[in-house]
Parts: sequence; structure tokens; C-alpha cells
Amino acid sequence: GNAKELIRRLPKAELHLHIEGSLEPDMVFALAARNGIDLPYASQQELMKRYDFKDLQSFLDLYYQATAVLLTEEDFFDLTWAYLKKCQADRVVHTEIFFDPQSHTSRGVPFAVVIGGIRRALHMAERELGVTSRLIMCFLRHLPAADAFATWKMAAPFLNQIDGVGLDSSERDFPPGLFREVFALARAAGLQTVAHAGEEGPPAYIREAIDLLQVARIDHGVRITEAPQLLAEVAERKIPLTVCPLSNVRLRVYDTMDTHPILALLDQGVRVMVNSDDPAYFGGYVNANYEALIDALAPTPEQLIALVKNSFLSSFLDEASKHSWL
Ligand code: HPA
Ligand code: ZN
Repeated sequence: GNAKELIRRLPKAELHLHIEGSLEPDMVFALAARNGIDLPYASQQELMKRYDFKDLQSFLDLYYQATAVLLTEEDFFDLTWAYLKKCQADRVVHTEIFFDPQSHTSRGVPFAVVIGGIRRALHMAERELGVTSRLIMCFLRHLPAADAFATWKMAAPFLNQIDGVGLDSSERDFPPGLFREVFALARAAGLQTVAHAGEEGPPAYIREAIDLLQVARIDHGVRITEAPQLLAEVAERKIPLTVCPLSNVRLRVYDTMDTHPILALLDQGVRVMVNSDDPAYFGGYVNANYEALIDALAPTPEQLIALVKNSFLSSFLDEASKHSWL
């Protein structure tokens, strides 16, 4: 209908996208063949049968397993380029993507190979697709803070190619405060900071990410609905929440899309917008997320426009570039 047409037509920004989560089943098989890797699944169909997740961890187990096909600079280029073509198709004109270096360096893939391939695609997309970008390096929170620190050291020669740091992976029992020192180093080096919090973890983790990591944005953050006072503060301070509707339903944060709180948060003045998280696994890219929302929650055109405006307002673009899209 009209709402879906409006969304397809509007320029949008995406602020929560794990590049490894854009690895589609056909590319898993193509890269495995190119690299001579034996996969534990006989076909794409058999792989996709495992996309029936019961929680965040059941997804992460498969997500990390599939990254084993990524070995060369060309692999990281091809992965990133395929995602950027989806951006072009969805009219996502600006994207701020995450990568998980530890899931590659732990397999012996050099940091330079990972960031080299990703950066080459981002640069080419700016020239050839008109898609601008930022790159955010995430630390895996299920691993010790010392590993994050070692990753920070490994990234030192590439800091001019990294715009921010983030925190992802298994949330429960891994509070943001564990990573306060490495986040302080990143801030001192002039990088932006963000953290996943309040996806499966409690609102207290959102509080910690704001107070101890001093993040510019919270990734997910939907469990803030359980803490009205924190919600009021986040609205007042305009701290963005990078919400991912299809992800939340597929990982069973919400049973169905019609109970998703994104519009309630928007109406309470929280700076929320729509993102795809791991689109190869969760049922689609940015426009598919909007379409699922439209079908389940019937947002008004004003609400849709507010979500799209928030995607630019919450970005790390400079003020002039932000306002050129508003
Ligand atoms: N949450 C935490 N870690 C992740 C996610 C997510 O949704 N996607 C990829 N890594
Ligand atoms: Zn995420």
C-alpha cells in the first residue's frame, strides 16, 4: 500500500547492521567452494532449516560457525559489497556497519585482511552507489576484557579507518561495565562508542552502558520499557536506540510483531529508528523490517517519517550532511 511505497521511496540511514550477519546462504556455499571448505550442511535448504532460533545464543552459535567461510580480503569485499547493493536497492543512502574482528582473528585471519576488504567495498560504494558509511568495531562480550584489550592493540595501525567501537554477542551475564577500560581508551582516541544493551539483558545494562561506557547510542535497548524513569531520561537526553524489529521477533524477544514496542517508544519521545541487525538470518533488510512493522502495527505516515528522520539524526554524519537528508 501507500505506507510501503512511502518507505521504499524515502532516503534512509541504517545504524545497526553486523556485516557478518549479511552473509546469505548462497554466499556461504559460494565462499566455501572457492576456499575449499567442507560445510556441516549438505545444501542451502539444510542450512536455512537451522534458522529457527529460540534465543540470541542459538543464533550466535550458527552466526559464528558460518563466518568460517570468510578467509580472504576478497571474501570480506564480496560480503560487504553484496550488502551495499542491498542498501542501494532499499534506498539506504548511509549505513554505519559493525564488524566482529575477534571472530576472524581467532581463526587466524589477519586483522588487515578483514578491514582491508570491508573498507575497499565501503569506499567503492561511496563512489559507485552513492552510499556513505561509517565502520564500527565490536568487541565480543562473551570473551574476557583482556581479549578486547588485545583486539584494541591489534587495531592500533588501523584507527584512522575505524569510526567507533561497539559491544555485541551474548548479553546475559556480561554487563557493559566489564569493558569500561577499553571503551575509555577508544573515547580518548576520539572514536564514537555504542553498545548492545537491553536486548535480552536487563535495563540495568542500558544504565551501565550510558554511565560507565558513555555511549552515544544504545543498540536494541527495547527492554527500556521495563524502566520508566530510565526511559524518560533517555528520551530527554535524546540517546538513540537502534531498534531491530525482525531480529527481536526471530530471537523471541517478542512473540509477535504486533506486540513490538517501537511505536510506543517513538510516541514517548524516544529517538528510535528501524534497522536490520543480521538481515541474512532474520528475514530481510531495512525495507523488509519496515514492511513487517507496517503489516503488524499500522504506523501513521507521520510516525514512519519520524522513524526515518531519526535514522539520520542519530547517525555519526556531520550536522550539514544530516540536515541535507531531513
Ligand atoms: N545481539 C548481540 N550480538 C549480535 C547480534 C545481536 O543481535 N547480532 C550479531 N551479534
Ligand atoms: Zn546487533
